[in-house]
Amino acid sequence: MKNRRLPQADTIEVVPSVLSADFAHLADEIAQIERAGVKMVHLDVMDGHFVPNITIGPPVIEKLRKYSKLVFDSHLMISEPEKYADEFIKAGVDHITFHIEVVPRPEDFIKKLHNAGITAGICLNPETPVSKIEKYARLADMILVMTVHPGFGGQHFIQEAADKIKPIRQIVGPNIRIEVDGGIDPDTTPIVTGLGADTLVAGYAIFAKPDRLQAIEAIRNACR
Ligand code: DX5
Ligand code: ZN
Repeated sequence: MKNRRLPQADTIEVVPSVLSADFAHLADEIAQIERAGVKMVHLDVMDGHFVPNITIGPPVIEKLRKYSKLVFDSHLMISEPEKYADEFIKAGVDHITFHIEVVPRPEDFIKKLHNAGITAGICLNPETPVSKIEKYARLADMILVMTVHPGFGGQHFIQEAADKIKPIRQIVGPNIRIEVDGGIDPDTTPIVTGLGADTLVAGYAIFAKPDRLQAIEAIRNACR
């Protein structure tokens, strides 16, 4: 049984997404953000089926695990996350977020992840209403609100999707993290933290900048 490593929900965390990093130097890219003092790294897994893009899977994550102590926050943008969860857990992820759109029995899947000693997240796409997660939200450790259509980095922030943060915060209370993913930068950060988000995924706004420490600080300083 692993230890649960997701930080308690009493801090704001900036979580770099490696989607905009140099995939040929992933371990070095992750080492850079680790030196910048983040606690978590966001690993975007795509299957070319649930989303129109393909990225990394368990073999790459397993290798990265040897080079980093960061909390591995895996975001499974795949059609059958239940089928592959064991492989990701074996590869060393600390947290699995799955999409509510493709998991018919979320309560069972969350239980399975908890029994394996990792934390569980539920994600909703921009067009998915809060009502779809209402029954299960309090069973999870983190809710992930997509503020772009999943699949690619560097897209524009969708305000209407961010508006779901407030009602979700009312449902889950203060002890469950609300993560936001898509178009997060120093301009959109105060919008989402103001609505109640505490976990800020940022890909392009960090990895497209030459100075990652400065880019991370700019997001931290924009929180409210
Ligand atoms: C998109 C991914 C995101 C992506 C966000 O489908 O889930 O994690 O990296 O990228 P930015 O921060 O560039 O919008
Ligand atoms: Zn993501």
